[in-house]
Amino acid sequence: MTDNAEKYVAAIDQGTTSSRCIVFNQDGAIVAVDQREHRQIFPKPGWVEHDATEIWSKTQAVVAGALAKAGLRADQLSAMGITNQRETTLLWDRKTGKPVHNAIVWQDTRTAALCNQLGGSDGQDRFREQTGLPLATYFSGPKAAWLFDNVPDLRARAERGEIAFGTMDSWLIWNLTGGTDGGQHVTDVTNAGRTMLMNLETLQWDPSILSAMNIPEAVLPEIKSSAEVYGTAVGQLAGVPVASALGDQQAAVFGQACYDVGTAKNTYGTGSFLLLNTGNRPVQSKSGLLTTMGYKIGSEAPVYCLEGAIAITGALVQWFRDQLGIIRTADEIEPLAASVEDNGGAYIVPAFSGLFAPYWRSDARGVVTGLTRYVTKAHLARAVLEATSWQTREVVDAMFQDSGVHITTLKVDGGMTKNNLLMQHQSDVLDVPVVRPKVSETTCLGAAYAAGLATGVWNDTDELKAHWQKDVEWTPSMEASVRDREYHNWHKAVERSFGWEE
Ligand code: G3P
Repeated sequence: MTDNAEKYVAAIDQGTTSSRCIVFNQDGAIVAVDQREHRQIFPKPGWVEHDATEIWSKTQAVVAGALAKAGLRADQLSAMGITNQRETTLLWDRKTGKPVHNAIVWQDTRTAALCNQLGGSDGQDRFREQTGLPLATYFSGPKAAWLFDNVPDLRARAERGEIAFGTMDSWLIWNLTGGTDGGQHVTDVTNAGRTMLMNLETLQWDPSILSAMNIPEAVLPEIKSSAEVYGTAVGQLAGVPVASALGDQQAAVFGQACYDVGTAKNTYGTGSFLLLNTGNRPVQSKSGLLTTMGYKIGSEAPVYCLEGAIAITGALVQWFRDQLGIIRTADEIEPLAASVEDNGGAYIVPAFSGLFAPYWRSDARGVVTGLTRYVTKAHLARAVLEATSWQTREVVDAMFQDSGVHITTLKVDGGMTKNNLLMQHQSDVLDVPVVRPKVSETTCLGAAYAAGLATGVWNDTDELKAHWQKDVEWTPSMEASVRDREYHNWHKAVERSFGWEE
């Protein structure tokens, strides 16, 4: 560093259930955190929406909260980075700044019929070559198409240039940099890549997909790298460069310092998302994974990843707590599960909204198998936790099939990593060490790192890599014969989840 004044970088993580802001110092250590939840809106079964206006005001509140806790003024921030829930889709009026509809959340399944129809005779793979993604309700393009088909007069307004499309990164950057008064309408490659509208090779919107989905080009943001100054904030952050945007899972890749080909991380939240760095070329998946952007730092070559997206992991613990009432708090699951030796023969496949990777089956529904009178709530608690490790194992196997890369260590982060029993089981079923870093807020850290790189707070990824420090390591201790037998049982349970009503 050239001067002695401590530099700070803040990051906003606009997630599925909450928004948070974290201020980091130059060592990548946390100075202050503030967080607020927002409403989950369920208008119909399978539909999930967010009020983007509420999200913007909660975002402003957490920024103010984090600065206050850090005892800092905005002008002491060198940069602001953004990371966000991916795929969640919003259209807003450029003149009024008002959303034309609630945001449609990534978990929402209303586009199932539309996706089938778009697939036609090519099925789920119709746009895979250009986008790396299977046609599934998960992604933004069909969600935007649904809005154009269902919000009166929207298409005409869009064609007149009055409407803006964006994922949460675009919405926040537009608002932070001025909104109706000159806000920047941009997105980054990692977020654009999850709309199903961006071509992975050109890193631009793909005209053939826009036309297939009938999405007016005039609504689209400009696609930028993940680390560059998009604009200068106004309002409470006046003067601060807004200098990074990454989808949350890609931000975690960056925050976990997965900069080398073959490095991988798994984030355990509502769902789990395992990303493997595959270098500067996209690797197409034949095994049910997504080919996705990792990050792109300014004018450097883009980095690609293979991703195993699992829809339900932590959410199964919530279901066990809230819907079954077997535990009162999520933390109670670990002692309950630890009170028995094993799962007693029970397996739970949490296909609550179909299965994502590696199956992409929207006809799958949750099942519990192996029940006998021997099985107690403690065995079920184990089965709940083990569902996370087995789903992760399936993704890791698919990664090997697609890339030939054996993951030798899995870096982990997210709320469930404080569960020792789960992390030990994860290491056991993968037969590799599982490691958690000291700063486990890797999502915000990744966005802060990218913003700091864009503004000269840090010089390069080698400097960032040196910040990464191991906190805990779990090493495998399961006998191969046990692992193989249980994995076989898990697969039998998965097969039973297929073929239910869509
Ligand atoms: O693809 C969805 C993912 O980005 C959501 O992450 O942590 O907000 O649930 P999270």
